[in-house]
Amino acid sequence: MFFKKQTTWIKLFPTLEAAHNRVALGKVTTIEIGKKKVCVAHTSEGFFAVNDKCPHNGASLGSGFCTDQGSVVCPVHRYHFDLKTGRAKSGGGDCVQPYPIEIRDDGVYIGFEETVWNLF
Ligand code: FES
Repeated sequence: MFFKKQTTWIKLFPTLEAAHNRVALGKVTTIEIGKKKVCVAHTSEGFFAVNDKCPHNGASLGSGFCTDQGSVVCPVHRYHFDLKTGRAKSGGGDCVQPYPIEIRDDGVYIGFEETVWNLF
């Protein structure tokens, strides 16, 4: 096989408390990580992250809100996207890229999967 997938983990917050302070329960926000913009949501099930750019018309999902049903809602045309799968729950059939979140002893991490050459 010439390609393999690997996940790069980046620390979003130094502590879980810092995560709670930045993204209160029931809220969403946009966080820039290098050139990426990520929408981070805090629901009763924990923290979730998806690509910040709404696939419908490019609005920032981090300016929207999240629901008790586990969706992030776009602030412009109110399309709902499932925070676990990224699939649209209403509106068009578009999806947003979900990213895994891990809470570790030394902070809260986000994972970015990429495909890399695997020559040897
Ligand atoms: S821009 Fe997000 S639903 Fe239209």
